[in-house]
Amino acid sequence: MGRFYITTPIYYVNDAPHVGHAYCTVNADAMARWHRLIGDETKFLTGTDEHGQKVADAAAKHDMSARDWTDRTSARFQEAWDALDISYDDFIRTTEPRHYESVQKFLTAIYENGYIYKDVYKGLYCVSCEDYFTPEASVGGNCPIHGRPLIEMEEENWFFRLSAFEDRLLEHYAEHPSFVTPETKRNEAYSFIKGGLRDISITRTSIAWGVPVPWDENHVFYVWYDALINYLTAIGYGRDDDEVAKWWPNSHHLIGKEIIRFHCVWWPAMCMAAGLEPVSHVQVHGWLLIGGQKLSKTMAAEGELRLSDIAPVMLTNLFGVDPIRYYLLRETSLGNDGEFSLEGITQRYNTDLANNLGNLVARVTAVVNSKCAGAGPAPRPDSALRADAERAIHETAEAWSDFAPQRALEATWGLIGATNAYLELHAPWKMEPGPEVDAVLGDALEAIRLVAILTTPAMPRVCEEIWRRIGLGGSPCESTFDQSATWGQYPGGVTVHRGDPLFPRIKSDA
Ligand code: ME8
Ligand code: MG
Repeated sequence: MGRFYITTPIYYVNDAPHVGHAYCTVNADAMARWHRLIGDETKFLTGTDEHGQKVADAAAKHDMSARDWTDRTSARFQEAWDALDISYDDFIRTTEPRHYESVQKFLTAIYENGYIYKDVYKGLYCVSCEDYFTPEASVGGNCPIHGRPLIEMEEENWFFRLSAFEDRLLEHYAEHPSFVTPETKRNEAYSFIKGGLRDISITRTSIAWGVPVPWDENHVFYVWYDALINYLTAIGYGRDDDEVAKWWPNSHHLIGKEIIRFHCVWWPAMCMAAGLEPVSHVQVHGWLLIGGQKLSKTMAAEGELRLSDIAPVMLTNLFGVDPIRYYLLRETSLGNDGEFSLEGITQRYNTDLANNLGNLVARVTAVVNSKCAGAGPAPRPDSALRADAERAIHETAEAWSDFAPQRALEATWGLIGATNAYLELHAPWKMEPGPEVDAVLGDALEAIRLVAILTTPAMPRVCEEIWRRIGLGGSPCESTFDQSATWGQYPGGVTVHRGDPLFPRIKSDA
């Protein structure tokens, strides 16, 4: 089987996590779970980005040391991910000693390869972005992303010779057509490189909250420059070459669209400069918006948007873990922006979960109890549902492997719809007990078994519960997908349990 190394961005700890971070993390989690299901050796990394001006400012504002503040806020991300059943294998914090070690080794390699030099830098800086902007990119002196005033900065800094990598980057893009997906985002990165690259300042003397530069003690590395290296720290860069060789050729970064330039231009160039292949693939996702505006911790701190209202934990308390995961995966096609709303969640919940999936499981388990004395019958090899099931298996698998959770769930829900229609057609609840009822219910139970396997990356808890209700031991991800996801394996003769509704309908206020 293959290998799959997936990462999220490491989130800034200037404030608590919100549903935008949950969006990315849940998508990465579902992909990790999918790859484990198909038997890939999988590593899923997330974590927190703890250096830089923005985090130092947040700590000062709360009268806390940077260390205490980052400890506290990083823990809030871990709590949110626990609440969302995020199955990360490693949680990295950039303030850990292992990260300092990898960063210093990686950047020393670039330095020794001659791509780092000293110069004076003058420019317009946005602390929220931790990034410089050209006067042309600014909007009336303000940051084009955060709308806040840009600050004039002048520093003697160490520079990375990014300009030396223009041709090699363009070549890399030409040779690896799926280096960045979706294609629109790939084109964005490509035209950025085509437009010409300037060297970048990678150290700071103005702050001390960063990784020290090993060859110049007055400087710390610029936060973005240390942050990107986290993806290598976690697989042992500078400490364990075998681990790097094992994971790096199978590496995938899932990132939001606002950090394309860092991940798709700087980062591959940094890897080249250090004598390493770039990451294998960058998958870009769009933004969740509220009333057309991006959710942002920076805006929340300024009171423009009450993000405390949409903390991930609040959502899981309101709707349940799996419904939130489902909504985040199903509502928006990865790569596009999507509008986030409580009404939207309620609607998805009531239609896809309560009416379609929940109702299917409820009626089948109920009729098995009333007509088959609670023993689930076996499916037929030549069932009319079989073709629908096989199409759903194929399309769902393809979509998950294509980083397209929305499409995957759509395909799985096609099978749910077909099974509900099949039940309507035969109406086993109206039939007398006997072989005909058994046949219809056996087919439906087999479809439900397959749905539980196909949906487990998105809703692991619910799928375990469905598995139990249809009388199966173990869990839907116990066998690998190619072994379990073929028509006809529901054993028959097992005890089917009725239970409370999986998704009690939510009354909407409207
Ligand atoms: O950029 N919709 O951290 P960050 C969807 N530390 N996704 C959103 C979102 C929204 N409204 N808001 C945030 C940083 N995200 C750096 C990254 S990586 C080496 C360093 C998600 O706390 C999205 O994935 O600003 C975005 O890229 C990420 O959070 C940025 O989090
Ligand atoms: Mg941000």
